Amino acid sequence: MATQQIALLLLLLAAAHGLSVAISPTPIINTTCAALAHSPNVTVHVDYEFCVRALSADTASSSATDARGLAAAAASLTVANLTSTEHIIADLVDNLGRCLTDYREINGMVRHALDDIRGGRAADASVKLLEVAKANAPAWCDLILIEGDAKRNPIDQENHNADFLSVIASGIAELMLHSHG
Ligand SMILES: *[C@@H]1O[C@H](CO)[C@@H](O)[C@H](O)[C@H]1NC(C)=O
Ligand SMILES: *[C@@H]1O[C@H](CO)[C@@H](O)[C@H](O)[C@H]1NC(C)=O
Ligand SMILES: *[C@@H]1O[C@H](CO)[C@@H](O)[C@H](O)[C@H]1NC(C)=O
Repeated sequence: MATQQIALLLLLLAAAHGLSVAISPTPIINTTCAALAHSPNVTVHVDYEFCVRALSADTASSSATDARGLAAAAASLTVANLTSTEHIIADLVDNLGRCLTDYREINGMVRHALDDIRGGRAADASVKLLEVAKANAPAWCDLILIEGDAKRNPIDQENHNADFLSVIASGIAELMLHSHG
């Protein structure tokens, strides 16, 4: 039973990765990918399966009937891919840049709050820490990254930590204020 379920799962995984799905490439894609995988004339070799899958999925490559047509299709596929990745990088750089600006700002405020705490100015510290906690810049950073064109957030854990710790620091400063009466 369990073995059958595992076997089925493996089969589904394989299918999802296109391993058990037989791709029948066009003759030119087949011979080209075979050459790309093994020919001594090619400087950088590629995996045959990956090559067949990538080119077969592309209409221009699939309809290419000669080496020049396939070369143009592959180059244009590469341009589309690089352009798409450029957009992703630019979006990430843009949004991470905004996060960085905010992080520097809240970090500056927390550093000043730390000075206040060490100097016995609990009320001043509390105001600053509360402002940081309420502004919740890390959550805003999460939001712009998730909603950005890249649709990915490489620092969600860090944002979570920053939010969590600043709320703790702010809360402790408030408790300290009240305990001093
Ligand atoms: C691909 O080409 C190889 C030889 O290069 C041949 O043995 C194989 O049958 C071909 N496969 C398809 C699907 O055309
Ligand atoms: C490699 O290049 C030689 C000539 O330089 C040619 O005869 C041979 O067919 C080529 N092999 C492949 C797999 O393209
Ligand atoms: C880029 O190429 C990869 C590999 O073929 C493909 O999986 C991916 O969908 C392509 N991305 C775009 C935006 O064309």
